[in-house]
Amino acid sequence: MKTLLVTGGAGFIGSNFVKESLRAFPDFKIVNLDALTYAGNLENLKDVEDHPQYVFIKGDITDAALVERLFEEHDIDYVVHFAAESHVDRSIEDPGIFVKTNIMGTQVLLDAAKAHWETGKDDLGYPTYREGVKYLQVSTDEVYGDLGKTGLFTEKTSLKPNSPYSASKTAADLLVRSYGKTFKLPINITRCSNNYGAYQFPEKLIPLMLSNVLDLKPLPIYGDGMQVRDWLHVKDHCIGIATVLLHGKDGEVYNIGGNNEKANIEIVDLILETVRKKLTEKKYSGIDTDPAKIDDSLKTYVEDRLGHDRRYAIDNTKITTELGFVPTYTFEEGIEETIEWYLNNQDWLDQVRSGDYQDYYEKMYSKK
Ligand code: NAD
Ligand code: TYD
Repeated sequence: MKTLLVTGGAGFIGSNFVKESLRAFPDFKIVNLDALTYAGNLENLKDVEDHPQYVFIKGDITDAALVERLFEEHDIDYVVHFAAESHVDRSIEDPGIFVKTNIMGTQVLLDAAKAHWETGKDDLGYPTYREGVKYLQVSTDEVYGDLGKTGLFTEKTSLKPNSPYSASKTAADLLVRSYGKTFKLPINITRCSNNYGAYQFPEKLIPLMLSNVLDLKPLPIYGDGMQVRDWLHVKDHCIGIATVLLHGKDGEVYNIGGNNEKANIEIVDLILETVRKKLTEKKYSGIDTDPAKIDDSLKTYVEDRLGHDRRYAIDNTKITTELGFVPTYTFEEGIEETIEWYLNNQDWLDQVRSGDYQDYYEKMYSKK
């Protein structure tokens, strides 16, 4: 039995990863450490909360004493580090928490992993570690900055982050690299493109647009809406992470992309059209939106995001050729399934939009 520490496992990608891992790895115990910030939600994990191989711990990754204790108590073998402040717009409003959580939190985890796994020193003075351990950092393609009309990010592309969010993720990514080089800690870094799928918090493009369409609220398109993202289904991302965790070569970085470049405006158009069609064909519990009112007049061009990256696109060659990973979802299947999930999970959407969400929305969008 191997023990895997997942941080941020109550968030969007983390909760999908916890559930996929409990299904795929019957011989793993999973310890989920999550502070339950606005983005963390135990409802995402309802299906597995009583699973005998799953433990949830509410706590902060910057709490070094807690993290060290968890390593001891659960004798952690693997770390998959998701916990982060993850939204670019919030990082423009308040960068400080991004520095604390994303950079300092990563350092706390690295130190705990190093201390717990170290077995001695080699002839050159480098630490040695017990067999079969790995620290995996979930980074982002945003560390590369943005691309012009052509080209793709490879693992060798220089790092030029543009937002406080991506700068904090870059600092964390480089800290992980440094522990691999200076201490020979067995690490991997994955850099993935924009994820979509079930359980994504409605501050991000796809669930925010879905949520607004259902309320017949304006759809806030930043700038000209021609910014391009490379969309990766969250389940494909989880498989990519597991592949790197089990088969990645120590010290290496792997890009994970979906080969699905779309302009934001295409996504908004697709959501409008799909929701209108679905609501015309079928009644969904808890939804009484009139599909006849879902039309282009909802699209609203608003002030652009500061420092807005124009285009991201990932070259998947390394993970595909070296580890045999290929994303399985086409965007058409994935977005259809995602929209259907949101239409069938109004209770979840209502729950996450209660509380602070309305204040957040007011603050961010009333001035746009
Ligand atoms: P999310 O915002 O949905 O979830 C983040 C989780 O981390 C939440 O459960 C939150 O409670 C927890 N958390 C925050 N601060 C914490 C702290 N101090 N201690 C413990 N837990 C804390 O994020 P997500 O979209 O699931 O992203 C997960 C990871 O993947 C992040 O590291 C993000 O940078 C990276 N990533 C995300 C995307 C994407 O498209 N969503 C793309 C590339 C990389
Ligand atoms: P987002 O989901 O925040 O992810 P990221 O900034 O990490 O790529 O945004 C995706 C794209 O959608 C990005 O170009 C910004 C744009 N966007 C809007 O046009 N309107 C919105 O309300 C949001 C949240 C995003």
